[in-house]
Amino acid sequence: MISNHRSQQTKLILGLAVGLALLLLTAWAVVPIGGGATWSEEEVAVLRSLSLDALGPLPPDPSNRVADDPAAAALGERIFFDTRFSGNGAVSCASCHKPERHFTDGRPFGVGMGVIPLNAMSLVGASYSPWQTWDGKNDSQWAQALIPLENPLEHGGNRTRFAHIIAEHYATEYEAIFGALPDLADQQRFPLNAGPVDNVSAAIAWENMTPDDRDAINRVFANIGKALAAYERTLLPKPARFDRYVASLDDRGRAQGEPILSADEIAGLRIFLDRGNCLSCHNGPRFTNDSFHNTAVPGAPGYPLQRGRIDGVMRVQRDIFNCLGAYSDAPPEACVELRFMVIEGDTLLGGMKTPTLRNVAETAPYMHTGQFATLADVVEHYNGGGYTVQGHNELAPLGLTEEEARQLEAFLYTLTEE
Ligand code: HEC
Ligand code: HEC
Repeated sequence: MISNHRSQQTKLILGLAVGLALLLLTAWAVVPIGGGATWSEEEVAVLRSLSLDALGPLPPDPSNRVADDPAAAALGERIFFDTRFSGNGAVSCASCHKPERHFTDGRPFGVGMGVIPLNAMSLVGASYSPWQTWDGKNDSQWAQALIPLENPLEHGGNRTRFAHIIAEHYATEYEAIFGALPDLADQQRFPLNAGPVDNVSAAIAWENMTPDDRDAINRVFANIGKALAAYERTLLPKPARFDRYVASLDDRGRAQGEPILSADEIAGLRIFLDRGNCLSCHNGPRFTNDSFHNTAVPGAPGYPLQRGRIDGVMRVQRDIFNCLGAYSDAPPEACVELRFMVIEGDTLLGGMKTPTLRNVAETAPYMHTGQFATLADVVEHYNGGGYTVQGHNELAPLGLTEEEARQLEAFLYTLTEE
């Protein structure tokens, strides 16, 4: 009896000791000395792939031979802020892309000559993307720049008018970069207002020009876009607290030195990587795969639904300023993105370009028509999984608790440049 009782006691003590040892071991592995989370080797590799240190040099743009010419960037910068390039003399690119807001405007819709029911996108790092705008209707930034210039709701100008403004105010700079301007003094040949725009007299004046003169104007117009694009290539992302955190991790996934992220932010990062499935679209150092996805974002009340990528594909193919067009500097074989573009599939209808999450805490409101005012609203949308009335919803409900949702939101704040 006694010996039996003894052995039971020994077993109990042994069991407790083993249990305690196991507990200590796990605690040591999960919460290293000095606090902070431990990441597995694979997780460390993923975290490093999200860090700005992993961002390579800008891809070349063979369709724009002045893409990396500093003189073109300097001219582009001046045009970017110049309100003379608009129908009412009051709108510039910076009206909707404000440097102090990471080149967004803080409004749901863009406001220029009128109101365009789309949300102005951040231009920081956008030159890395092969497709421009929410639906990717342009395959370069120079072709993209030409759209707002002629849109009656944005700059509301026209091609010959822009060429005349260049001749009057920027002739020296322009000609040093692109060569001689056409003889714009002849207003019979080059009317003050002409272009294929939503303005009857300008559209008729454009039709009445000779094909050669239209071509000469198109060339100046394209070059304005190329200078703007050269400037946009200088707008690059800067390191955020998140990047410092990743840099502080050793190879065993332990943060060294002073804590950089809070426990909540780290928990949010973990949700971002696994249960949130965010990484499947928001990956790489800019937190975007530059592709198009249907995430069941509701339309703006009172406006028709944006059809997204399905329209973008059609528009970029028809665009005379695309990589394969007459105004591109690229040989056709260099237009890889356009030639091998995905033109069918069930994610085209309602598909929008995955936006960067860098600086996202300072670029509200969110989504292609600014549907969501706050990051909490965005997280709530993902958590519910959304419901789409067009195309195929790629999301599934996440089932995060309120606390987890708050942690995921907290993580997004760590992506703001310091
Ligand atoms: C009236 C507001 C407004 C003005 C003016 C404006 N934009 Fe935008 N910008 C927007 C909106 C809205 C979008 C999204 C458009 C879309 O999806 O079709 C956008 C998208 C872009 C993008 C795409 C970024 C990306 O990541 O895909 C670029 C580049 C851009 N604009 C550059 C410019 C330039 C250059 C100018 C001046 C020539 C300009 N914008 C003038 C509102 C504006
Ligand atoms: C299937 C691809 C996909 C997944 C998964 C995904 N996103 Fe997105 N995300 C997008 C697309 C596409 C948009 C733009 C949608 C639109 O405007 O209609 C977007 C927009 C956003 C925005 C708004 C950014 C802005 O500037 O407007 C935030 C924030 C965001 N996502 C965070 C997340 C988080 C957090 C997760 C994980 C819970 C996540 N996303 C999962 C593709 C995805």
